[in-house]
Amino acid sequence: FPVSDKSPLTIRLCGPRGFCAGVDRAIQIVVLALKAYGAPVYVRHEIVHNRYVVEGLEAKGAIFIEELNEIPEEHRQQPVVFSAHGVPKSVPEDAQARNLFYLDATCPLVSKVHKQAMRHQRLGRHVVLIGHAGHPEVIGTMGQLPPGSVSLVDTIADAEAYMPPDPDNLGYVTQTTLSVDDTAGVIAKLQERFPNLMAPAADSICYATTNRQVAVKEAAPGCDLFLVVGAPNSSNSKRLVEVALRAGAKRSLLVQRAAELNWDEIGPVRTLGISAGASAPEVIVDEIIAAFKERFDAQIELAITAEETENFLVNRELRDVPLTHE
Ligand code: F3S
Repeated sequence: FPVSDKSPLTIRLCGPRGFCAGVDRAIQIVVLALKAYGAPVYVRHEIVHNRYVVEGLEAKGAIFIEELNEIPEEHRQQPVVFSAHGVPKSVPEDAQARNLFYLDATCPLVSKVHKQAMRHQRLGRHVVLIGHAGHPEVIGTMGQLPPGSVSLVDTIADAEAYMPPDPDNLGYVTQTTLSVDDTAGVIAKLQERFPNLMAPAADSICYATTNRQVAVKEAAPGCDLFLVVGAPNSSNSKRLVEVALRAGAKRSLLVQRAAELNWDEIGPVRTLGISAGASAPEVIVDEIIAAFKERFDAQIELAITAEETENFLVNRELRDVPLTHE
């Protein structure tokens, strides 16, 4: 056997990784809308936080906008899709007022958090939303409730400083894509200060976020480098980088495409961890593994900590519609 002159590399590949059921459904909704109604299909905000996905859909005829008033008069009949992150109540109301045909691609697990927040409010509780300011999901969840009835708490320091209107009448929900461990710390701090704080009926952090973090924790100890395929605006991907570092990876980086890999910076590695955020397509994981295989004598070890079988149906309007624009 010829002896390879490349240095040996063990790649620990995490599973579950990459697309979750909510992302898969949101992309399907745009693709089906294009096939059923023809281009253009407008999409409010990046459907999922991934450039590769967005550019792929743009090539098929999707047009990404930030606000509904960007849809030109002559395209008012074309569908507009709301992204997987969810939208404030004002957005579908605005769409109705403008007579637009909208398809809501909000992940059902985000909608579940919206319902839990509304339930707290219905029961007379002030809502504490644990999440990151400015993220579209947080804007969407806050926008389910009347102004003044929800407060955002991000860190333990925020939880320490928080002054609620009525400390005995509080209920919390969280963003779906937070760090499981950090969030437990924030909740513990809030519970210590406000013993009557009510939890949501079901955990807000979703199965996909939790499973990806568990697999990264398993694979990261001893890794010289841990790569997370994902975008800098993807909350769940950024959390995976933090989880990898905390679990013992020497370095961890977000990477969007193989072409971005800086080989000088990567340097000599013997154990490499790889995972991918919930909005990152598997083709990018494949191209990154291929790039390492070109430079290293790489062996793949799987770090599988769960099997995922979740699958979310697309909107009713799209289930039996004739796909006349295929
Ligand atoms: Fe939904 Fe969780 Fe994915 S909330 S979009 S299943 S990351």
